Amino acid sequence: AMETGVARKPIKSWAAYERELTSRLGIDNKLIMAIRNKAKQNPKTIVFAEANSFRILKAVQFVVREGIAEPILLGNAKKIKELIKENQLDLDNVPIIDLYESVSDEKRHHYAKILYEKRKRKGMTYNEAVEHMYNRDYFGSMMVETGEADAFISGFSRNYSTTIRPALQVVGVKEKFNHIAGMYIMMTKRGSIFLADTTVNMNPSAQTLADTTALTACEVKRFNIEPKIALLSYSNFGAYKGEGSPVRAKEAVKILHEKYPDLLVDGEMQANYALNGKLRYSRYPFNKLGDADANTLIFPNLSSGNIAYKVLQGLGTAEAIGPILMGMKKPIHILQRDSTVREIINMTAIAVIDAQSNASDEM
Ligand code: ACO
Repeated sequence: AMETGVARKPIKSWAAYERELTSRLGIDNKLIMAIRNKAKQNPKTIVFAEANSFRILKAVQFVVREGIAEPILLGNAKKIKELIKENQLDLDNVPIIDLYESVSDEKRHHYAKILYEKRKRKGMTYNEAVEHMYNRDYFGSMMVETGEADAFISGFSRNYSTTIRPALQVVGVKEKFNHIAGMYIMMTKRGSIFLADTTVNMNPSAQTLADTTALTACEVKRFNIEPKIALLSYSNFGAYKGEGSPVRAKEAVKILHEKYPDLLVDGEMQANYALNGKLRYSRYPFNKLGDADANTLIFPNLSSGNIAYKVLQGLGTAEAIGPILMGMKKPIHILQRDSTVREIINMTAIAVIDAQSNASDEM
């Protein structure tokens, strides 16, 4: 017989832990559950750039146990093995690549040649290309470029821009968009909301905003959700007449309406009109989203996008998944510095489904 006041049963699996946490926060976590399940159906090889960090290894431990991905650890082999032992992690069968100890000269030169061919007309010498192969961001990106791994996760301990440049040089961007941007999924009480650009383009032009919107629409569709997109600003539908971000957002909407007439997108608008469809419809019945609440928010610049997601995350009112890097030719994702174990695990699941579906980009 059960007694009252008995300690709760230990949480057996990560999925159970997740359910319990999200139910406590009152957050709708259906999407992340679906993402993880999809990842498990066809796990992919993921290279982790910062495997000498305990938090990465802890996340990798979960990933292995749950069968979400097949990890490869990049880093100082001695340090990684020590961390595994000290913390009694069960990672003895996970391959480790130490750029100084276990990479042959032949391999280094093979990779360097590929990089040199890509960058020789952009000022890179062959010696520099060889030198870059001692850098985990270059080497890891090259593993994905050559198909030796399916996806790459980096950025945990370093600056976002120093991590993204090697990826841009090695893997490059999808020709179809010729553009990259970052997205966050915020799981909230009222479902999942997608935010972009939260990580890349600092002062976007109207065209850049339109490109970011197109990339984001594609990404949201990959999750089998119809994007209802609002381009945000501090003004509604042309109310502000001066120069600046409202005007760029308005111009971006014009570009989008011409190029993608079926896409549910409108703006510029303030965030309350984006999130409250009925209110928007009562004032602006001509708007393309009708009375639907927007589920995808495009910010007028990097400051607003980055600040907005961190505010939501900081207040604990939403669970953040990301940053999802959109537009790279192959799956490369760069964590925000000091990501939590949960964030690393979730990004791993995203990277796996990214690798599963990398070929398809429906608009
Ligand atoms: N889309 C497509 N290609 C791009 C983009 C883009 N948005 N940005 C750069 N590139 C290309 C360039 O054209 C260039 O190509 P090439 O060398 O083949 O000619 C290549 O990528 C590298 O460009 P660089 O000139 O070295 O890089 P750039 O100075 O343009 O910087 C970067 C790109 C690093 C992404 C820059 O935009 C940046 O620093 N963004 C802000 C990052 C940041 O600090 N984010 C906030 C924190 S992130 C967080 O909170 C998780």
